[in-house]
Amino acid sequence: MRVLVTGGAGFIGSHYVRELVSGSYPAFAGADVVVLDKLTYAGSETNLAPVAGRFEFVRGDICDPAVVAEQMRGTDVVVHFAAESHVDRSITGSADFVLTNVLGTQTLLQGALNAGVGRFVHVSTDEVYGSIEDGSWSEDHVLEPNSPYSASKASSDLLARAFHRTHGLPVSITRCSNNYGPYQFPEKVIPLFVTNLIDGKKVPLYGDGLNVRDWLHVDDHCRGIQLVAEGGKPGEIYNIGGGTELTNRELTERLLAATDRDWSYVEPVQDRKGHDRRYSVDISKIAGELGYQPQVDFESGLAATVKWYRDNRDWWEPLKERAQLAKG
Ligand SMILES: NC(=O)c1ccc[n+]([C@@H]2O[C@H](COP(=O)([O-])OP(=O)(O)OC[C@H]3O[C@@H](n4cnc5c(N)ncnc54)[C@H](O)[C@@H]3O)[C@@H](O)[C@H]2O)c1
Repeated sequence: MRVLVTGGAGFIGSHYVRELVSGSYPAFAGADVVVLDKLTYAGSETNLAPVAGRFEFVRGDICDPAVVAEQMRGTDVVVHFAAESHVDRSITGSADFVLTNVLGTQTLLQGALNAGVGRFVHVSTDEVYGSIEDGSWSEDHVLEPNSPYSASKASSDLLARAFHRTHGLPVSITRCSNNYGPYQFPEKVIPLFVTNLIDGKKVPLYGDGLNVRDWLHVDDHCRGIQLVAEGGKPGEIYNIGGGTELTNRELTERLLAATDRDWSYVEPVQDRKGHDRRYSVDISKIAGELGYQPQVDFESGLAATVKWYRDNRDWWEPLKERAQLAKG
């Protein structure tokens, strides 16, 4: 079996690859794993160093049809993580988001169709649904993306759906809530706050801090993706969530406690433009059909994550310096 993982050098993709080649997903044991990644600012082969030599790495762009055609040849399963993923960056400039997330996904779908790939998992986000005051989204909820990032992901979801409806390509789509865990680029809220607080720097809290996110450990997300890769129905969409809804203030309080800091380290900043108020996914479909349940309890998952950033300064410090993220 040949498994092609796009974006496998990023946060979630590298977790999936480390688990896959370590045998955590027995149905794919012994698979030939190929990572296709452009290595943008967000991707690094260091993220795959713990499993170096146990997979093939191809540096390439998912927007390049020749590269994609070559890598699709003989591929049985595609797990598609590659994306521009940071909302704030999509607000300051959205061209790369449209290129990679929309054109890149279309190039992959076409390449998979041409090569007769047997299964394609398109990894998407709950942000495509927009923002919800009460209740939770089921998979048939209308798409109302509010940021250029989520709009580009919603566009890619529609292309994936269309390739199934038009061509019968066996694509399944996953839509997941906010992930946390090791190896997350320190521009995202948890690693940014943790690494700033470790260093005694302030953390920027958007607006009134009452925006709600549903947090899921990256290991649970990847297990959900794997369930879909093994048993998801072609053409179907599966929400994946963690069930831990927190306001950003509540999350900040936990991160302050975990790093022995107090509220004097919090600097309220102007709210993000178009900031979604609340995300919440209904996971009853993937739970009922595929037996998914999150397993990592938030308290212990967060404690282990904070410890990982304490223990791995060599990983995050150069990234922060390069991206000039250590404000405060
Ligand atoms: N992080 C989250 O909380 C979250 C939640 C739900 C869904 N998702 C989705 O999961 C996927 C992975 O997210 P992540 O947080 O790991 O992102 P990330 O930004 O950490 O990693 C993205 C990876 O894609 C690669 N990449 C970018 N453009 C590319 C291109 N044109 N060709 C080839 N490779 C390219 C990068 O080099 C990087 O390795 C994304 O599709 C994202 O939309 C993320």
